Amino acid sequence: MSLHILVTGGAGYIGSHVCVALLEGGYQVTVIDNFSNSHPEALERVAKLGGGAVTLIEADLADEGSIDFIRQQVAERPVHGAIHLAGLKAVGESVAKPALYYHTNINATLNLIEIMGAVGSNTIVFSSSATVYGEGNKNPLTEAAVSYAPTNPYGRTKYYNENILRDLYISNNDWRIANLRYFNPVGAHPSGLIGEDPQGTPNNLFPYIAQVAVGRREKLSVFGGDYPTRDGSGVRDYIHVQDLASGHVAALQFLHNQQEGCTADVNLGTGKGVSVFEAISAFERVSSRAIPFEVTARRPGDLAEVYADVTLARQLFDWEAKYDLEQMCADHWRWQMQNPSGYNG
Ligand code: UFG
Repeated sequence: MSLHILVTGGAGYIGSHVCVALLEGGYQVTVIDNFSNSHPEALERVAKLGGGAVTLIEADLADEGSIDFIRQQVAERPVHGAIHLAGLKAVGESVAKPALYYHTNINATLNLIEIMGAVGSNTIVFSSSATVYGEGNKNPLTEAAVSYAPTNPYGRTKYYNENILRDLYISNNDWRIANLRYFNPVGAHPSGLIGEDPQGTPNNLFPYIAQVAVGRREKLSVFGGDYPTRDGSGVRDYIHVQDLASGHVAALQFLHNQQEGCTADVNLGTGKGVSVFEAISAFERVSSRAIPFEVTARRPGDLAEVYADVTLARQLFDWEAKYDLEQMCADHWRWQMQNPSGYNG
């Protein structure tokens, strides 16, 4: 019997790649999504790529009024675990609308816990972020951080959700919990069929570069050229979304293989830092397009350099990132070229 996994936010950028990886791994998949920042077309393409159907529960996991409906739907199928990605994710918006972020991201987690408890399933892989480390830690960032100081409401929702899940395990040691701390997810499925489809002006570097390369935007603003880094621009640990997806499947296998309940906080990154200028050059090489840019002021809240220590993921999950920067750019570019207006195009 194949295992059945609930994927919250399964139609989103990371969720869609996770669903394909699960289908390829022989899992059955049910998605909960309300399409607030995603497109139903993504699930059609997931089914095509993964060679299997995805069951959809279209509902808002953060909405108290939807819980009975979702619980009923989930109770109709045995679920062996959940990968929890549903939530809001724009840092700037979270500063402007903190209550919306706390309400949505915390309630989605609390409601999922209630639903999983009700159907007797105790495995949750949570989509956390390197943002939980915040300021004051040394690179490479290890999971045993000296301080946890996320710098914005979005980051704090990730931090609080991690703690909620850890407290759940403390209350009942049967739970199997993995908090996956993503570094910077980029790229797309090599088919070019699924990828990131940001609404409005992209906040993140790769989608912005891709839209400049395709001619949708005039030039990139490089936020700060005077950081104490090797070329003055910000350094991040970019990870191919395909690697991230396989990391979720590895985490799930790890949890299912444990004799007893457990909780683990694990970085998912490559362990390598890449500067903004290096990312621009790599994208130019791969796309054969010029990326006009101008160096502007630093973006408030940005750190100079962030990259992961990836030892723990290797030890616990027997997993490591395989794709390099060129492949991240090539796949991101293919998705952008084939879908210039995202899923609406
Ligand atoms: N950058 C630019 N110009 C842009 C966009 C970004 O120069 O138009 C720079 C940033 O200053 C930074 C780097 O490119 O140095 C990466 O920025 P992103 O916005 O792509 O990513 P962040 O590292 O700021 O944010 C990511 C995730 C967040 C998460 C955060 C902290 O997108 O969800 O990491 O881990 F909270």
